[in-house]
Amino acid sequence: MKFLNQVSFLVTLGFVIGAIATPIAYTPSNVKRDLASIESVLTSIGNQVTTLDGYIKVASPNPTQIVNASTALVSTIKSGVSTVQASANLSDIDALGLVSPVQTLSKNVNTTIGDLIGIKSTVDSLKYGCTTYEQLQDQLTQATALSTALVSKVPASLQSVAQGLAKGITSAIQNGVTAYNGECTSTAAYLEFDSRDV
Ligand SMILES: *[C@@H]1O[C@H](CO)[C@@H](O)[C@H](O)[C@H]1NC(C)=O
Ligand SMILES: *[C@@H]1O[C@H](CO)[C@@H](O)[C@H](O)[C@H]1NC(C)=O
Ligand SMILES: *[C@@H]1O[C@H](CO)[C@@H](O)[C@H](O)[C@H]1NC(C)=O
Repeated sequence: MKFLNQVSFLVTLGFVIGAIATPIAYTPSNVKRDLASIESVLTSIGNQVTTLDGYIKVASPNPTQIVNASTALVSTIKSGVSTVQASANLSDIDALGLVSPVQTLSKNVNTTIGDLIGIKSTVDSLKYGCTTYEQLQDQLTQATALSTALVSKVPASLQSVAQGLAKGITSAIQNGVTAYNGECTSTAAYLEFDSRDV
């Protein structure tokens, strides 16, 4: 009887602790919120990438608009890094939920960088090669920070997968950096260089 009482006390206690602990630490809505906030970071970045691509693809690209959109993209990624860093660790399921949004963003970034590489001769003739190179480096720095932040929120067993996916984004930007490498020292020099020199 005494034994049974203890068992029943422990069961009751366990039940109560479970009932208290669950809503605080493990409620799916908590996890969902972090997944949702990370998803919305990826969406905002994607929207800004699309805006940038829009300015790159017009018949007569306006460098001021491109630089402006690129600067906005860099700050969007930067604030996204803070959001991701502040979010809780993700469960396996939630981490898997990020696969598709990261792939979508990666594709979007790759297209945009491809378009930016495609207008390189125009960018050069407008003397924006060096500015573009610097912007790409800023994007790469921030995208790398975003990748590190994302990977740190993913369960250890999925981290190498996450790293591989995020690499799609940074590799695409790296292609742009490589394409515009040397622009700051070449004769296709940039605007500030010209105005300083005059
Ligand atoms: C520059 O970007 C901001 C924010 O993205 C936008 O509101 C503004 O209209 C842009 N200006 C130009 C000249 O494109
Ligand atoms: C990235 O875009 C280039 C074209 O700009 C394409 O050749 C390449 O296959 C794309 N890479 C990925 C991983 O989609
Ligand atoms: C979050 O996950 C990372 C990587 O798996 C781990 O190093 C860290 O300790 C975890 N943090 C918490 C609060 O569980």
